[in-house]
This record gives sequence, structure tokens and C-alpha cells, in this order.
Amino acid sequence: MELKPAEVLISKEAIAERVSAIAKEITSRYDGGSVLMVGILRGAVIFLADLVREIGPSVEVSIEFMKASSYGASTQSSGKVAITQQPTMEIEGRNVIIVEDIVDTGLTLKRLREYFADHGAASVAVCVLLDKQDRRVVDVPVEYTGFVIPDEFVVGYGMDYDEKMRNLPAIFTVRPVDE
Ligand code: PRP
Repeated sequence: MELKPAEVLISKEAIAERVSAIAKEITSRYDGGSVLMVGILRGAVIFLADLVREIGPSVEVSIEFMKASSYGASTQSSGKVAITQQPTMEIEGRNVIIVEDIVDTGLTLKRLREYFADHGAASVAVCVLLDKQDRRVVDVPVEYTGFVIPDEFVVGYGMDYDEKMRNLPAIFTVRPVDE
């Protein structure tokens, strides 16, 4: 099925305001220290790029990326998440903030939190732009949340349909092209 953006769920302005508020929280929490912000490819790239630029100069920020994917996306919640691209920076002793576009079942974030704990991070926190709370299968702490949204497919601001529409500046619901 071919899909196109339908309605704006979260506007560019609303995103910017929330991103800036989260960055303020991060700045005050890590004031005088340093953080390793780890963006989870590919969806988190845009959010991470905006977020780090709003963090104050009192925090030393490094940026890293990694990739994770659940085995057999169609057979959902098998509970198995593979790290398909590892970070190359040293994790040990770092204050890691995992940056995600969306949390759904929570399985990916649970696996990622374990990964950083296993690799000796001094602390691990999670920052997600969107939280589809109704879809949660496992309990996972999320320290910073942008918006809680209903269980609807969304695109834009990093999020895709079939690798398209990640570049849209706002977050949209979708509908079939012929509707
Ligand atoms: C999305 C999202 C999370 C994961 C969340 O990634 O970025 O990584 O799914 O789902 P979960 O809470 O059920 O584990 P996706 O596989 O769509 O990759 P992408 O970021 O490259 O689009």
C-alpha cells in the first residue's frame, strides 16, 4: 500500500518547544558534567540533531550512533532485539543518554539499556520523542519524554514509511494515496 501524510499530529513549533524544554532538563541534570548522547538509527537522527543544539554549554556533549532491530518485525514481540551496529566510542564510565524517536513495545529500549549497563556506563538514561504508551509489552524506564501519542502510525521528523517521509518537518498521521 502507498501512503501519504494525512494530518499534522504534532506541529513543527510544538516539537521545537518540547525539544527545548527537554534540553533544559538535561542541562540542569548534567550541569558541569558530560554526556554521551546515543542516537538510534535511523529514526532518531533529526530529534538528536535538534536536541543537542539546545543543550547548554555547561554540559560537555558527545554524539554516537548505533542500530538495533527486532528479529522478524512481522512476528512482533518475539522479545528478541539484535544490535546490528555497535557504538565505537568507549562506553565505560560515561553518562549515556539513549535517544529514540519512539517507544512502542519497549523491547528495543530494554535491550539497549542492558547493552550500556553491560558495557560499564556510569549511568544510563532514555530520551524519547514519542511514547505509544498503550502498546507497551515490557516495563522500561524513560527519563525524558516528548509526547505521549495514541497507537497510530506516524511519519516525519525522522520517522518513515518504507524509508520515505523522514524529512517532513512535523509529525503526521498517514492515509492511503487514493483516499
Ligand atoms: C523504531 C524505533 C525504535 C523501535 C521501537 O525503529 O525507532 O527503535 O522501533 O519499537 P519497540 O518499542 O516496539 O521496540 P524502527 O525499527 O522503525 O527503525 P528506524 O528508526 O530506522 O525507522
